[in-house]
Amino acid sequence: MTEPVIRVVGLGKSYETAAGLFPALRGVNLDIHPSEYIAIMGPSGSGKSTFMNLLGCLDTPSAGDYFLAGANVAQMDKDALAILRNRTLGFVFQGFNLLPRMSLQDNVALPLVYAAVDKETRRAAARELLDKVGLGKYAESLPNRISGGQQQRVAIARALVNKPRLILADEPTGNLDSHTSEEIMRLFGELNAEGITIVIVTHELDIAAHAKRQVRFLDGEIVSDHLTEAASC
Ligand SMILES: Nc1ncnc2c1ncn2[C@@H]1O[C@H](COP(=O)(O)OP(=O)(O)OP(=O)(O)O)[C@@H](O)[C@H]1O
Ligand SMILES: [Mg+2]
Repeated sequence: MTEPVIRVVGLGKSYETAAGLFPALRGVNLDIHPSEYIAIMGPSGSGKSTFMNLLGCLDTPSAGDYFLAGANVAQMDKDALAILRNRTLGFVFQGFNLLPRMSLQDNVALPLVYAAVDKETRRAAARELLDKVGLGKYAESLPNRISGGQQQRVAIARALVNKPRLILADEPTGNLDSHTSEEIMRLFGELNAEGITIVIVTHELDIAAHAKRQVRFLDGEIVSDHLTEAASC
């Protein structure tokens, strides 16, 4: 089998609280291989977002090891990790997180500003991705002129602009109605068919059914991990 794009070994995270240390993640082991499509499930408070934040290098673990594209994240210096993270990961959040005063095109191009890509190349890449998610004609519009589902598609286009191998999405359909959620899931399905690895957190079974593998958390531990019917399609 190919080398995992993500490997976590004995991953733990404890938060300091008034009542003492609270173990939100307790020794999680998981390998995610290229082109997998995984739904992370589990009740509120089970550690899903804590886990995603660690995968996204937005937080550091209290225990265990995290290997991203084969590199031990804890042993990398800050700059090298930022480069690896930008090249490897794209993020999609529940709240879309678009900048309200920027056109859709500029929102999508924003990660490339940090990657020091020139303006014309940025514009062309953003246009291409807005076309891909079906919103090319709104390129010059502001986010408040389009619907929530369309805003989430723009956020997905933005997540794709650095050509990541993997997309991490924490409840990307949490603010959307069921019809719009299905559209967003179809888009994730298309991206996965192109070879992009997808990890998405969801509470909803019908959303999770789009994924090829379902991993369930309970009290900071993985309690089930299995392939779905979608895996045989
Ligand atoms: N910064 C923090 N400080 C203290 N406790 C925290 C912090 N972040 C999360 N927790 C606690 O850790 C546990 C796991 O939280 P987490 O946000 O990972 O759950 P979740 O599975 O994403 O839940 P939800 O489905 O509601 O989003 C919860 O009990 C939460 O209260
Ligand atoms: Mg959460």
